[in-house]
Amino acid sequence: MCGIFGCILKNGNAAPIIHAGLKRLEYRGYDSVGEATIHENKLFIKKDEGQIDDVHTRRNLDNLPGRIGIGHTRWATHGAPYQANAHPHTDCTGQTAVVHNGVVENFMELRRELEELGHIFKSKTDSEVIPHLIEEKMKEGLPLSEALRETLNRLEGSYAIAVVSAEEPNKIFCARKESPLVVGVAEDAVYCASDIPAFLPLTNKAIIIKNGELTVLNDKGCETRKIADWTPVSREPEIISWTSKMAEKHGYPHFMLKEIYEQPLGLKDTLRLQESYLELMTAFLDRAGEVFLVACGTSYHACLAASYRFSKLAFLATHPIIASEFVEQHGRAVNIDSTILAVSQSGETADTLAAVEHARLRAATVLGLTNVIDSTLTRISRVYACQQSGPEVGVAATKTFTSQLSVLAQLALRLAKKRGKVSHVEIERLEEKLEHIPEIAGTMLQSQGEKIKQLAKKYRDAKCFFFLGRGISSATALEGRLKLLEIAYIPSIACPAGESKHGPISLIEPGFPVIFICPKDETHKTIIGNIMEMKARGASIIAIIEEGDEKIKSLVDDYIEIVKGVPDVLSPIIYVIPLQLFAYHMALERKCDPDKPRNLAKSVTVK
Ligand code: AGP
Repeated sequence: MCGIFGCILKNGNAAPIIHAGLKRLEYRGYDSVGEATIHENKLFIKKDEGQIDDVHTRRNLDNLPGRIGIGHTRWATHGAPYQANAHPHTDCTGQTAVVHNGVVENFMELRRELEELGHIFKSKTDSEVIPHLIEEKMKEGLPLSEALRETLNRLEGSYAIAVVSAEEPNKIFCARKESPLVVGVAEDAVYCASDIPAFLPLTNKAIIIKNGELTVLNDKGCETRKIADWTPVSREPEIISWTSKMAEKHGYPHFMLKEIYEQPLGLKDTLRLQESYLELMTAFLDRAGEVFLVACGTSYHACLAASYRFSKLAFLATHPIIASEFVEQHGRAVNIDSTILAVSQSGETADTLAAVEHARLRAATVLGLTNVIDSTLTRISRVYACQQSGPEVGVAATKTFTSQLSVLAQLALRLAKKRGKVSHVEIERLEEKLEHIPEIAGTMLQSQGEKIKQLAKKYRDAKCFFFLGRGISSATALEGRLKLLEIAYIPSIACPAGESKHGPISLIEPGFPVIFICPKDETHKTIIGNIMEMKARGASIIAIIEEGDEKIKSLVDDYIEIVKGVPDVLSPIIYVIPLQLFAYHMALERKCDPDKPRNLAKSVTVK
């Protein structure tokens, strides 16, 4: 997730306006920044790695001529945050500059094609193929808008882009597919941006650009067309009533809620990782003597879920380990035949890095899964994958968790395919289901959100909760518990449902709320028995069930339904979402701040 911004002013310099616009988009990405302006038919560019303020101090982003320009603040997905990888990117002529937010899935193929045509690339990014494709089309004599349209038809993946060119110096060309793009219209200027906050202090008149539309900004405003058939689109500006702070949260009251609802988009981007890295990680996992899945907190729960998948799909036994216990528990055993898959959304968690360092010293192979390119974990991993969730501002992990689950499921499926332990029919079925997970998440959020809010009102005075699940759902139970205790400060217990009778059940008394995660998988029958055990002691039962599960509906006090057909190995990705929302609403019911829970930090960089 990056931030793009552009403006055409009637008078004055665009650069300082772009700089201020990018500052208001900094929450979308902040590892490198750049601007490009047009003045007297020439293109001027400044860009560098680093946060906006640092780059401005070094390079003075305001000192670019011209009343037209674009800018970009980056959250690296392809290519570490070095100066060369910062946007804007230009074509070979240096006359056309592009800023891009999204993922170009087929960039390797396009890059090879363009290099064979003689194009010289300066970066490792996927985005840089865009200006060179435009250049190639303009060489065929197409005007920039047609050249851009032809280019967009070649791109697979997601994009929100803005283009300026000395070839058409009084315009900005923008287009959108999935990544957000909005136009701001003022008396003396027109703006384009990833998000409304970027221009809200300058105008509250916004035109939302929709998927598959290309819009050309000029001195009079903007002209929008459908990319597919070039038909014009007429759309009146909407008046935005948000405050700037609200706008950063896209109208949501808290970043945590915004990030919970961002999961369908994040899960889509997580399905667009670079094949080569996933294949390499799969190869290392395949030949490992033993595999440790090392992480903390929510990331550990992702590892726990992954261990069920590696076993069920690839017949690979893995050891999920809480990072702070790794050295004590396995420090002497880990060796050259060991492979460590470290999972850390920040890539900076001290406990995880310490475990990895110990393993490296004993010649183990280290693989990394993180959300932050150029984080320490990426630098000490033999191979790493970036999950492409975009920045997560809420301290409680939500969208980064479901993205981790998706990447780990992709690895388990690749390993299964490589090992041939599961029929290719079954693997293709699961791959197809994984492709639909973003849509299923969206449906769940739309249909069950209000019911979950009411559930929080009903149970807001409860003093303690149980979270119980069997099989892979025990990982979901642990994550649901962590969410509730870390943002609503409610003591909660999570364990495999089968374990509850070995002690925890002593806590149960009439009215004690027990949350069961019960997808219709192999554990369904036995978990009904666990529900009965709790019911017999007067517990209040809340169940996360597959829609239409009449058997469990008849036994419980409350239930949340998930659409049919989510395979067990993928179920945590969807079944955790109601628990995230429940924790969020419980926090509000108890007057807690979901974004800034007490005593916690987003990245725990101390051991
Ligand atoms: C999760 O909601 C917490 N914020 C915390 O447990 C977190 O998952 C843990 O600190 C690990 O962070 P990491 O993924 O950045 O390594």
